[in-house]
Formats: sequence, structure tokens, C-alpha cells
Amino acid sequence: MNPAKGEVVLGGIKDYEQRFIQAKRILIVGCGTSWHAGLVGEYLLEDLARIPVEVEYASEFRYRNPIVNEDDIVIAISQSGETADTLAAIELAKSRGATIIGICNVVGSSIARVTHAGSYTHAGPEIGVASTKAFTAQVTVLTLMAMMIGQKRGMLTGSAFHRLVNELDGVPDKVQRVLASEPQIKYIADIYKNATNALYLGRGYSFPVALEGALKLKEISYIHAEGYPAAEMKHGPIALIDEAMPVFVIATKGASYEKVVSNIQEVKARKGKVIAIVTEGDRVVKDMADHCIEIPDIADQLVPLLSVIPMQLLSYHIAVMRGCNVDQPRNLAKSVTVE
Ligand code: AGP
Repeated sequence: MNPAKGEVVLGGIKDYEQRFIQAKRILIVGCGTSWHAGLVGEYLLEDLARIPVEVEYASEFRYRNPIVNEDDIVIAISQSGETADTLAAIELAKSRGATIIGICNVVGSSIARVTHAGSYTHAGPEIGVASTKAFTAQVTVLTLMAMMIGQKRGMLTGSAFHRLVNELDGVPDKVQRVLASEPQIKYIADIYKNATNALYLGRGYSFPVALEGALKLKEISYIHAEGYPAAEMKHGPIALIDEAMPVFVIATKGASYEKVVSNIQEVKARKGKVIAIVTEGDRVVKDMADHCIEIPDIADQLVPLLSVIPMQLLSYHIAVMRGCNVDQPRNLAKSVTVE
């Protein structure tokens, strides 16, 4: 990405630019955290490039006899590039004529070798079983992809495009500012380290981050956690709310802010404990929630890159306080190369 020139180039898919420009549908397949990144990708590609997107668990896609044809582009997301379900989903889609684009972190991995083209995330070796920097890198590549295709398709142009380029260029500095809140996150982790359940809520671009936050807590601290679209609370989960239930809510300023604020009120009215991720300077949520973690203001499309960090740090500190093996959680493998 070249902010000065106002351009985004992903060399690995350059030869397939026309395929993307003419695409009628994009399918995204992945597992676990990669599937969560794919969900962010769906929101980005539909929002910025105006291409219909469907996100599928690779393990479901491979067995449900899906409708796939040569007009489809399939984006396969995998940190390890060795996940068996994702490899099988690729083979199925390839056999039905689709164009396969990979987003992998391990250079020369199996998935990287069987795709028609793709982009490496270049996050460096990810040692811990729980995927963290890879998620951020996957979402970054998907953001660049959506911006590049959106611009080529004439859907994201002029000031909107340049604004997003400049905002994306500023993300590393804003990440540093989020990391500076680690002492406060550790303080919050100490309060909730003995919870037996937790809910994670978000809307729009923050819904996939709510899912990812819940997965992080589950897999490294062994606390049961669920991620939900915030509006879904009234369709059942609100029955779970009591003073023992910590509810982590991404409530940053943006398109659905007012709605999320009312979701927080619903939880507080039932004595739930609310830990909110808010935009710096927010006063409204601060007066409602039990704890607020501030992140810098940023475009809705880029919130996942910042809001996931407090989720990751919270899970890390809770797991350490519970004496869990953060790098090698029980029952888990870094790469699921078997079904
Ligand atoms: C993430 O924290 C998990 N360890 C797991 O869900 C992982 O994302 C999933 O197994 C997919 O792995 P991959 O990205 O290497 O394909």
C-alpha cells in the first residue's frame, strides 16, 4: 500500500484482478480464528467492493454438496496452510471449476501450493496454538483486498478510498496506544478470572471480533464463552444474564453505536457485569459499564484491527492467572491436519 500514491497493490492476486472485478460471488472458507477473519472479510468485501460473499466453515462446506461453479472465487484462509478441512474444501471447490485464492501465513504450505493465487500474511512464525497476530494479518490482507477490488470496480473511489488508505496507514501507531492499556486490562482480568461463563457481544464489523474474543477465552483459559451479535440477546441469551455473568461488549463509535448502547442498558438492567471496549473519550458508555477499555477512534472497517487486541490480552492474563498453559492449551494442536 502506498499512501502517497493512494494505491493498494496485492501482487499475489494481480493476475486475477479481472476475475475479481467480474466476480458474481466470493466464497470464503476457513476454520476457527481463520473463519472469524473470513467473516470480517465478508463485511469488508460487500461493504467496499459490493461483491456478494458467503463465509463457510470448511468442515461443513466439504460435506454438504455445496453449489460451486467456475464463476465463483473461493478465498481459503489458513495460518498454517495445513488444515485438513480447509484443504478438502479447496479440492472440492477446485473440482467444480472455482478460482481458489489463498491467504496463508506459512510460505510454501500445502494450501499455498494448491491455490491458483494468493497473498501471504507475512506475520512471521506464530508459535502459540492460539492464533493472534495471524488473525490481525489475515484481516489486514482482507482489508487491502477489499480496498483494491473496490477501487478497481469503481465502488470505492476518491476521498473515501484515500481516507481509508490513510487510516490503515495509521493503524500501527494506534495499536501501540491500545497496547498501552495492558495494565488496566490485567486489572480487569483479575476481577473476572474465576468466571465460569462469559458473553461477548458486537454488531457489524465487531460481531466477528466478539466471536474471536470468545474463542480466545475458551481455548486458553478454559472458561466457557459465547460470542453473539448484540441484537440477538433478546432472542434468548439475555436469559443467561445475572450478576455472575461478565459481558464483554465492543461499543465503539460507529454505525451501530446507539444500538449497542441500548444492548448494554438491557444487560445492566439485569445486573450483568459489562466490560466495554469504547472509543477514546466516550462518556456515555463509561457511565453505564462496569469497566471501559478505550481504543483510538478509527473507521468502522478498521475497528477489528484494534478491538481484537484487548480481547486477546484479556484472555492471556486470565489464562496466566488461572495457571493455564497459554502457549500449548490442553487438547489443542497448532495445526489440525486430521479431520
Ligand atoms: C485459533 O486460535 C485456533 N488455534 C484454531 O481455531 C485455528 O484458527 C484453526 O484451527 C485454523 O487453523 P489455520 O488458520 O492454520 O487453518
